[in-house]
Amino acid sequence: MAFDPAFLDELRARTPIAAVIGRKVKLVRSGRQFKACCPFHGEKTPSFYVYEDGFHCFGCGAHGDAISFVMQSEGRSFLEAVESLASEAGLEVPKQAPVDRQRAEKQKTLGDVLEAVQRSWVRRLFRPEGAAGLAYLRGRGLSDETIAAHGLGWSGDGRGGLVSELREQGFEAAMLAEAGLMRLDEDGRPRGELFFNRVTFPIRDRRGALVSFGGRILGDGQPKYLNGPETALFSKRRTLFGLDRAQKALRTVRPDSGASSASRTLLVVEGYMDVIALDQAGFGAAVAPLGTALTAEQLEALWRVDPAPVLCFDGDRAGRSAARKAAEVALPMLDPDRTLRFMTLPEGEDPDSLVRKQGARAMASAIEAARPLGGVLFGLLSEGVRDPGPEQRAALMSRLMEAAGRIGHKGLAAEYRETLRGQFREAFSTWRGRNGAQRNRLPMPSARILPAADAAAEERKRMLVAILLRHPELLRDVEQAFCQIALPDGLARLRAAMLDWADEQEHRQSEAGEGGAGRSPPLDSASLIAHLHSTALSSEMEMVLAPSPLPLARAASAGSMPAEAEEAWWEFFGHLNAPSLREQIMAAERRLAEHWAPEVQKQLILLKTAQAAVMRGEQSDDE
Ligand code: UTP
Ligand code: MN
Repeated sequence: MAFDPAFLDELRARTPIAAVIGRKVKLVRSGRQFKACCPFHGEKTPSFYVYEDGFHCFGCGAHGDAISFVMQSEGRSFLEAVESLASEAGLEVPKQAPVDRQRAEKQKTLGDVLEAVQRSWVRRLFRPEGAAGLAYLRGRGLSDETIAAHGLGWSGDGRGGLVSELREQGFEAAMLAEAGLMRLDEDGRPRGELFFNRVTFPIRDRRGALVSFGGRILGDGQPKYLNGPETALFSKRRTLFGLDRAQKALRTVRPDSGASSASRTLLVVEGYMDVIALDQAGFGAAVAPLGTALTAEQLEALWRVDPAPVLCFDGDRAGRSAARKAAEVALPMLDPDRTLRFMTLPEGEDPDSLVRKQGARAMASAIEAARPLGGVLFGLLSEGVRDPGPEQRAALMSRLMEAAGRIGHKGLAAEYRETLRGQFREAFSTWRGRNGAQRNRLPMPSARILPAADAAAEERKRMLVAILLRHPELLRDVEQAFCQIALPDGLARLRAAMLDWADEQEHRQSEAGEGGAGRSPPLDSASLIAHLHSTALSSEMEMVLAPSPLPLARAASAGSMPAEAEEAWWEFFGHLNAPSLREQIMAAERRLAEHWAPEVQKQLILLKTAQAAVMRGEQSDDE
């Protein structure tokens, strides 16, 4: 019984897999996924993970999607599982119309043709006729193991060998043509093999089904790469080379294991060879589009696997232009849980050449230095603008605001607008000058008249300051994030004064320590408030400490508990700058992976709790 793959895709998309599995076992959130004790083997510590589109048990290897979970846990057949999930999802199970069946048959057969070709090409690579191809691949530093793992092959010389070999297996030339492997004459009749004298790269879809091939010429020659044409199975705009393997690579590393975070990052690179060389160097989670700019469909596919994939570009002009294009496609699709990061390679290098010349360590550093979209967008949009006059400044500002305006998620658009404005001022305002009163680690935004829609954001900013007035012991932990937020003037001055005060206290403390005198008190709220009362900021501070209608405002009242305050602080922060909260989480995860420490673990939990709360809040705001 074959269903139309489109129907099954729709069913999977509409089935909340966590809910289906949650009926059988108790799930606990763990980052973006859920964890549970595996229902398929007895265990006391959870090693069963539920992802957005599947489950995997690191203990017994049980693995599948919502449909196979129902089959395995309830002992049902495929058909029964599909029918029961479809009725829950309110989907009608399509009657198998003869045409549909024919189409499903044909698709299956096209897949069969491709697999037969793949077997033939792999065989040829390791025979005398493939010697030059094999030598070429080895010469590019690929081990035989890598060559085999990626299914690289040799196309043969194109003199009809493939056609006759496949005919013997029952596949006519017309089917090879339908699979995109033949050149066609004007009447659409197959005229010759498309791939010849090339090493071949099988292209698979997200699930690992073969959909087409790419082929590289040996050495120089044009075109360097040839890709199969669009077919019933292959759509270039939807396909990412390597996604099936990347997904597996991310999942076979336990999310809480100590593997280096760089090897757990979903990377988007430019070419086939980059994906393969990276895999060999230990970065198994790399994918590439097929010689075109990233499309919206490809971004969707990436985000199903990672909320913030890292796009990797050359350091040259073309690389920057590709980065800008990708950012522009992504803007309307961004939300607090779907963003991009960008990394730049040394000029003239691609990932393949970098790992070969400088090793995996160099690549890992470049990955770790990836910057979030919010941090690079300004640079991408203002490229080439140096010392602009008023007209160019105005034009740039409208370009920036237009870009922020294309972000579909309202809250996030407002944040981007604010960030871009801040960066614009930072880069171009001459009137502000550098004066000693403001600390240079602060972004120094200026106040602006606020429309009503921003009232909640303003109130949250006030809470960020208020909580820290009550809990200055948190200042150091949150300082970096605190300084990223653009605050109106009064709050910005308070922030600077609080950080100065903390510096001062710590300085005194260390002097006292060196003198051997007993410990002076740590950063404490009463003395901070007393100190600020003695400055010109006294009334500003009183305003900040006034009661607030926001939920969680209790965290800013005298006597709130430190953990409660910290969590609330991050939640307010996350509402103001979700991408940065995610950055903080990733940074904490990295620190933890490198060196486990209880206080980092504790902070990570607080951060994630806050993030979950932000996400819940975001949803209910939309409703
Ligand atoms: P590059 O030209 O950057 O190739 O093309 P590369 O990956 O560095 O190739 P090597 O290292 O010389 O082998 C990047 C991607 O663009 C597509 C291919 O998908 C390639 O992997 N491309 C390139 C084509 O489709 N056709 C071409 O002629 C060239
Ligand atoms: Mn290359």
